[in-house]
Amino acid sequence: MTLFESWRKRFDRHLAARLPAADAPPTRLHQAMRYSALLGGKRVRPLLVYLTGQALGVEAEKLDDAAVAVELIHAYSLIHDDLPAMDNDALRRGQPTCHIAFDEATAILAGDALQALAFEILLANPYLNEHSRARMGLELARACGSLGMAGGQALDLAATGKTLDLQALETMHRLKTGALIQASITMACLAAGDLPEPQTRALARFGEHLGLAFQVRDDILDEVGETRTLGKQAGADRALGKATYPAILGLSQAQAHLEKHHQQALRALENFGEEADPLRALAEAVVVRDH
Ligand code: IPE
Ligand code: IPE
Ligand code: MG
Ligand code: MG
Ligand code: MG
Repeated sequence: MTLFESWRKRFDRHLAARLPAADAPPTRLHQAMRYSALLGGKRVRPLLVYLTGQALGVEAEKLDDAAVAVELIHAYSLIHDDLPAMDNDALRRGQPTCHIAFDEATAILAGDALQALAFEILLANPYLNEHSRARMGLELARACGSLGMAGGQALDLAATGKTLDLQALETMHRLKTGALIQASITMACLAAGDLPEPQTRALARFGEHLGLAFQVRDDILDEVGETRTLGKQAGADRALGKATYPAILGLSQAQAHLEKHHQQALRALENFGEEADPLRALAEAVVVRDH
């Protein structure tokens, strides 16, 4: 089993245990929450929590709840992203989207409830002291609010059918995707306790470039990938007139941009030794991924 697979296995067990049981009322809501959180997904944000923690020598028990919390926020963001009022997508992770498998109202509520559950889990984490829990809660709240993921989604919707300049495009990506990726890393730093400032800064810089690389790759895959491999509808951005890197820069410049962020992410880790090799491997996996 590869390193990623063993962390994913640990994570999936923990996640399944943290979600409400499917037969506990309100059953339809709980089934929708489990459906969207448990079926598939690369688990990139949880892996970032674990691998950053591993690079800093943090015990896995202190990382499980932060990993679950950020993935729950991510799952909620995808449910809402797929709604007819947003990207109107029918396929996610190779399955019907939540509002197709259930219904729109249930999908909206499943997203709401996953978000609340993320904070409940984070703030009740028995392995951390109150101060660390509160700092993590603050970090995640900022990353998913109007100056984070939700704000980025608003910019994405406002930009549909328009061309953005590169700076505005990057701002949108920093918020809608980068913020949660960065929060995954910052939460692992908080679990480590008192980290020297240069280490925290270097990891934040790594997260910043990885977050941007992640969304550039997502945009490229939407353009060149196949629906079967992606597990979501290929070509959806072009059909909707989304402002993406390939749409604005063309594919080859988008690819160059991706590589630039990849290199900058690696450079941010230059003062780390082999303890950060798994993070380097994850960055590589993010830029070459096919789904
Ligand atoms: C898709 O995220 C949405 C973006 C932020 C680009 P992922 O590519 O991480 O989706 P899953 O979790 O693996 O399905
Ligand atoms: C979504 O970006 C980012 C989120 C905050 C969910 P996309 O709309 O590009 O994500 P996909 O391509 O549908 O996964
Ligand atoms: Mg979207
Ligand atoms: Mg979408
Ligand atoms: Mg996309």
